[in-house]
Amino acid sequence: MAYKYSRTFLLRKLHQLTGIVPLGLFFFAHMFTNSKAVGGEASFEKAVQDIHDIPYLLFIEIFGIFLPLLFHSIYGVIISGEAKPNVITYNYGRNWFYFVQRATGIFLFAFILFHVLNLRFGLMPGLNMTPVAGNADLAYDIVAGEFSIPWVLALYILGVAATAWHLAYGFWLFAVDWGIVIGQRAQKYALYACVALAFGLFAVGANAALAFVRPCGLLPEILCEQPSTKKTVMPKKV
Ligand code: HEM
Repeated sequence: MAYKYSRTFLLRKLHQLTGIVPLGLFFFAHMFTNSKAVGGEASFEKAVQDIHDIPYLLFIEIFGIFLPLLFHSIYGVIISGEAKPNVITYNYGRNWFYFVQRATGIFLFAFILFHVLNLRFGLMPGLNMTPVAGNADLAYDIVAGEFSIPWVLALYILGVAATAWHLAYGFWLFAVDWGIVIGQRAQKYALYACVALAFGLFAVGANAALAFVRPCGLLPEILCEQPSTKKTVMPKKV
């Protein structure tokens, strides 16, 4: 019988854990930072600068984001390849969830690679060639420039949707597999909560993306802080 990586207990648990602890947490923090764009250019660029000022940032990025992401993605692609989707034969909700989890995982592998090269490193030929890293004072203009291209904006909104679903349903799978939510009723309500979380994360992430093309995103401007500009000088207290 052929060896199945998806049946390796320890790797599987590590795969679930990396999806929740460094990567899930990172996504929440990332959407929070991006949402600062709702408050305008200066507010977003201050948030980016604050991240760049974190001591030992490179080590945090390598060990807290890039390595867990690499392991989670590669192992995820391997187990997706070993999976046998049966949504055609058995058209049940759970089978669709199973299929969508794998499909979003494979899409995210390509999307995140594109996104990190595009914005973090500025290495996407034909698109932005200025890295946000080291250029916090240009961060808003870099992202706004990219999002003024309709297909790029659409791709990012799709990326946010795929991540929101993949993460929220991943929480549910984790809670069930680790024995945190036991019993059919509890699992049903936990699933509703995770679906609500997916929609909430999508709304926040998509609005953050739209805030780079329209002040305040889709929110009425009255709900936002007056967009501040970088030139604003705080009056001195006397
Ligand atoms: C609203 C849409 C998004 C915007 C505006 C956005 C913006 C950015 C920016 C500006 C950076 C560079 C940060 C820096 O160099 O300081 C970045 C990095 C990154 N983004 Fe996003 N992002 C979005 C969606 C996503 C999604 C859906 C994911 C999926 C998980 C994601 C994952 C990452 C990762 C892994 C990095 C590299 C982190 C690092 O270098 O420390 N982003 N993003």
